[in-house]
Amino acid sequence: MSEPVYHVPVLLQEVIEGLNIRPQGVYVDCTFGGGGHSKEILARLDEQGKLIVFDQDADARKNVPEDDRVIFVPHNFRHLQRLLRLHKANAVDGILADLGVSSHQFDEAGRGFSTRFDGDLDMRMDKRQELTAYTVISTYSEQQLHKLFEQYGEVTNSKTLARTIVQVRGNTSMKTIANFKQALHSVVKGNPNRYFAQVFQALRIEVNDELGALKELLQQTPAVLKPGGRVAIITFHSLEDRLVKNFFKKGSFEDEAQTDPFGQSTSTHLFTVVTKKPVVPSEKELHANPRSRSAKLRIAERN
Ligand SMILES: C[S@@+](CC[C@H](N)C(=O)[O-])C[C@H]1O[C@@H](n2cnc3c(N)ncnc32)[C@H](O)[C@@H]1O
Repeated sequence: MSEPVYHVPVLLQEVIEGLNIRPQGVYVDCTFGGGGHSKEILARLDEQGKLIVFDQDADARKNVPEDDRVIFVPHNFRHLQRLLRLHKANAVDGILADLGVSSHQFDEAGRGFSTRFDGDLDMRMDKRQELTAYTVISTYSEQQLHKLFEQYGEVTNSKTLARTIVQVRGNTSMKTIANFKQALHSVVKGNPNRYFAQVFQALRIEVNDELGALKELLQQTPAVLKPGGRVAIITFHSLEDRLVKNFFKKGSFEDEAQTDPFGQSTSTHLFTVVTKKPVVPSEKELHANPRSRSAKLRIAERN
């Protein structure tokens, strides 16, 4: 039997065109995964080009091609600048981040990301970290749980869900996905698959501090990119997209225009936005790869 596909890269053509690759340049793929985007970047580099790839999941290492131009960094991209410096890349020509989890992570029952399987309630992309989804549901306060289900999962009855978790966790095991779903079956609203997909998304974002890592990454891009260098980010959640949009436009994460006490704009023009509107998958891509559904690509160029 052939091995299942590790991951199908989304918006591949659009990313490659948008990065405007210089053949002798240094590029960073912050989310290597199955290496689909990296492969196409590499194909456009000449023998002097370099590709530095990050992935905090050790499973991704097996996809790294044997190529002297490629360096694999098995760490969180939130340490981008420090780790690039370690690899003697102080200024780079392009950065890509294709956020979220890979199909491989999602389809591996034991990783705990998918509601379709049973397994430990884990959801760590990086197995070296301590915090798991089980720790979140067993130790967070009702208020913390409420907030994360509401904000990261848009779970309609997030308050009831949080209250129920706190009420039952002392006397019901929720260590596995099956236990967790069973313990909460009475609070499910609407389609259970959809409901738990939202709950799981929220837990995954929290466990991996996905928004925190994205913010730290974005904040380091101006220092790391050469003038004229480009950064391309694919997001899958509106909260992520908003962070990217605001940062590219204003150099800050806030929605409101930044002004000083005299009403003058204090927004910094670190970037020229290349994609005025986010680029989304074509009908053809959506049909071929339904997992590309909520992808949004934004690209900016360092001034
Ligand atoms: C959507 S997949 C990327 C797929 C890849 N573009 C491809 O074509 O196969 C996201 C990958 O990034 C990794 N990842 C997510 N957040 C990360 C972070 N903060 N630091 C390092 N790797 C991260 C995940 O482990 C996963 O393998």
